[in-house]
Amino acid sequence: MVPSVDDPLAILAGIPLSFVAIFALRRFIKSRQNKHTLPPGPVPLPLIGNVLSIDTKEPWLTYTDWRAAYGDLIFVRILDQEVVVINSQHIAEDLLDKRSRIYSDRPYLATLEPYGWSVNFAFIGYGDEWRLCRRLFHQTFRPESAVKFHPMQIRRSRELVVNLIDEPQHYHSHFATFSSSVAMSTVYDYEASARDDPLVQIVINALIPGLTLLTPERAALLKAFPFLLKLPDWCWGSSIKRDARASTERISKMVNVPFQYVQQNMADSSQISMVAENLQRMEKKDEASKPMFEIALKKAATTAIVASYETTASTLMVFALAMVLYPDVQRRAQAEIDSVIGRDRLPTFADRPSLPYIDAVLRETFRWHPVVPLGVPHSALSADIYDGYFIPQGVSHGMKRGTPEASHFIPERFIDVDGVLTSDDPAQYIFGLGRRICPGRSTADASLWSAIVTMLATVDISSAKDDQGKIIDFTPKFIPGVVRFPEIFPCSISARSHIHSRLMDELRAVL
Ligand code: HEM
Repeated sequence: MVPSVDDPLAILAGIPLSFVAIFALRRFIKSRQNKHTLPPGPVPLPLIGNVLSIDTKEPWLTYTDWRAAYGDLIFVRILDQEVVVINSQHIAEDLLDKRSRIYSDRPYLATLEPYGWSVNFAFIGYGDEWRLCRRLFHQTFRPESAVKFHPMQIRRSRELVVNLIDEPQHYHSHFATFSSSVAMSTVYDYEASARDDPLVQIVINALIPGLTLLTPERAALLKAFPFLLKLPDWCWGSSIKRDARASTERISKMVNVPFQYVQQNMADSSQISMVAENLQRMEKKDEASKPMFEIALKKAATTAIVASYETTASTLMVFALAMVLYPDVQRRAQAEIDSVIGRDRLPTFADRPSLPYIDAVLRETFRWHPVVPLGVPHSALSADIYDGYFIPQGVSHGMKRGTPEASHFIPERFIDVDGVLTSDDPAQYIFGLGRRICPGRSTADASLWSAIVTMLATVDISSAKDDQGKIIDFTPKFIPGVVRFPEIFPCSISARSHIHSRLMDELRAVL
């Protein structure tokens, strides 16, 4: 959703178990004048603040250590950003949920506008434009409405396993294809082809370099020296301006080309995507409000694509890693599927209530390595007092939970003695809190459930072996960033023994 960067501000990106607030220095100074006490925290160095003390790759480890010294609410300064880390779910709910009127803004990023990224409404401030984008989004993606995507999600999951069986070594790119093709269907009714799809390529071309360019250093540089965007092309230092222009052009293509695809296909009344639904609504609006509506719709559509792309594929990477490292879990999950639905047909959403262990596996995948560990930083619209402490502005999150054996993948933690799912569900926190909570969570959950259950029903995911048949050992590594995910790891994927030609035909029939 935001860049995968390995730098001081990526620190803001990696707190699966804590909550963070960001606010401006101006407010900080004002707070002193207010004579309210700021939350306790480590002593900052001049200019750079606490940045050298924080583990850049796994910042939550530092915050967890600091929790012991300073408590659940910690004041930290990272370069010129002041941050309040909230190390407790209870305080996070108090602030982000119960006081969501205050804590729903986003911190200012000087790179957004020049690089074309203000089309992503996940980054924009709390206000009328955000409200309109969110409303358009909600109409399509609220749980009751998003069920219409279930047949497509099942179809895409079956396509995923065919790709995995055909080319297991490219499992990572198949997860990415699954993620983008579901998103393109929900947003544009566009049926992406399994490989080298031209519209998916436009998205990837904009997304990958675009997000890398959006580093905090650039934001800090542009904030300090905005004239860099005005330098003539021949001048030393103008590369920032040229990068920004190229990024804006790529993003503009990502915004407009798929949108035009829907406009050109509007005659097909079977369209159910977010853009198609809202273009129909737009027809009934008065002429004056149409331009604003169209801009908001383009933003909502682009945000859905950007927000889905890395998160869904990364969660599938975490799942595959768990299956390689915990073969007993995979066996138990497959046994549940085999005993409940048999081996002669493939799972559908109708089977979900009868497969509690599969849901436990999904919950544990969310919990084990949350892919958006810190969430997206929130920013407070006004100063606040909490528990006697002055909270100047902004917040983002994760959660401090006393989970037993937290580093182990144990889906059983979500099943009670009667084999029923417990009320403890990581979906209650990994998607954020308050008014900025992830509005795509129901679609994300359904995409992931369908992919996971279809994979478990049809393929074995296991350790890769070398030429001598010896298991290739490896230590899992993670790419840090706001979206954090496992690096590609050695892994073997093959059709389960009962996946005979008839079932394969059934699977291929969807393609
Ligand atoms: C495993 C998958 C996903 C995870 C873990 C995830 C997590 C998150 C988190 C933590 C936030 C920030 C919430 C906050 O600020 O408190 C967020 C925002 C958002 N997500 Fe997701 N997300 C996922 C998938 C999706 C999908 C599939 C969509 C679209 C269909 C989506 C759309 C959005 C949007 C539009 C926002 C911005 C909301 C706003 O700023 O008002 N997400 N997501």
